[in-house]
Parts: sequence; structure tokens; C-alpha cells
Amino acid sequence: MFNNEVLACIHARRSTRRFTEQQISAEQLDTLLDAAIWAPSGGNHQSWLFTAIQKKEALLHLNELVREGFRHWLPDDDYPGKLAIKEHSQREGYTFYREAPTLIIASNLPDYENAMADCSLALQNIFLAAQSLGLGSCYINQLHWLRDDAGVRAYLSELGIPREHTICSAAVVGFSGAESPAPARKPDTIRIIR
Ligand SMILES: Cc1cc2nc3c(=O)[nH]c(=O)nc-3n(C[C@H](O)[C@H](O)[C@H](O)COP(=O)(O)O)c2cc1C
Repeated sequence: MFNNEVLACIHARRSTRRFTEQQISAEQLDTLLDAAIWAPSGGNHQSWLFTAIQKKEALLHLNELVREGFRHWLPDDDYPGKLAIKEHSQREGYTFYREAPTLIIASNLPDYENAMADCSLALQNIFLAAQSLGLGSCYINQLHWLRDDAGVRAYLSELGIPREHTICSAAVVGFSGAESPAPARKPDTIRIIR
């Protein structure tokens, strides 16, 4: 197989779930957000919005609202792990954002068919850009699950995320505080028809 810098970055990226307290630089954040908006989008819609939160009090307040939201939350499907996370969220010290210094929320128009696809591609750009800058990152699903929670949405509106947007996904970024081993890739997930 070929190898080059981009392919090496793809292979080296891991989901980081422990971070140091050090904040990323303004230039690093700008670079990540710029990588996001250069992702492809269906019909070149670019209807996404990326909201980066670095203010610790805002993250802590959002975390309390997430915990409160999960208290009342009833999963609408049997996606593995939803019930465990609901239960986990009520434990002492739970932080949905992994105590990362930076959280980036990707929102989009709710009635736009490619909302999730566009935001997911943008997030992968953020993850790969972070890896290339020596930063750790992780996908965070909790805000998507709580996208209709009144308390969470009211605060996200205060932070400037339009009420009419749906919360598609989020990424945390920072300096990695622990090694993340690579989970083995499942066999037999590729087919080639020649
Ligand atoms: C749609 C999606 C949702 C995810 N949600 C979370 C999450 O909420 N919290 C988390 O720690 N990791 C989350 N992940 C990260 C996966 O657990 C991770 O990608 C997987 O275990 C493989 O590890 P790797 O990213 O290091 O290759 C999510 C990944 C995807 C694609």
C-alpha cells in the first residue's frame, strides 16, 4: 500500500479521552476550524455552524445541564451504550466533554437531509488536523442525544447556537494526557469487486 503524510495521519489518529489542562493556542483553534469549513458538503450547502467553547465556566455549566438532561432522558432507540451513559452521567465527577479544554459543537439546519453527513465530514477534518498538530481529539455524542433538551438548548442559544439548528455532533480537542491504544479493526469489512 502507499504511504504518505496524510495516510500516516489517518492511521495515527486516535480517540483521546484524557487531556492535560493546557489550552490549545488561538492559531491551533483557528486551524482546526478552518479545516472544518473545508470539508465537502452536500450541494455545497455549507449550512453548518461550528461553535468552539473554551471558557471553563461555560463548559462546567453546560456539563451540569447535560447531567440534568440525562436525568430525564429516555433513549428513543436501543443504540448500544445509551442507557449506560445515562446511568454513568449521574455519577460524581462525570464530564461529558472529558475535561478537555476545547469543545467544538457542529450544528446545522434540521430539515436539511445531509446535516449529519456534512458535520461528520467536517469533524473528521478537525480530528485529522488536530492529529497533524500534535493534539488529541474525540467525537462527543452527548449533545446530539440531548439536542431537544430544553435546558441544554436554552444555554446553547445563549452561547449563540441558533434555536432552529439541530445539534449534529461535537468534538473535544486538547493535549493528550494518556496514550490511546488503537482498537483492532474488525476483519471482513472491505469488499472489492473488480
Ligand atoms: C458517531 C460516533 C460517535 C462517537 N461518540 C463518542 C462519544 O460520545 N464518546 C467517546 O468517548 N467516543 C465516541 N466516539 C469515538 C469512538 O468510540 C471511537 O472512534 C472508536 O472507539 C474507535 O477508536 P479510534 O477513534 O481511536 O480509532 C464516537 C465515534 C463516532 C464515529
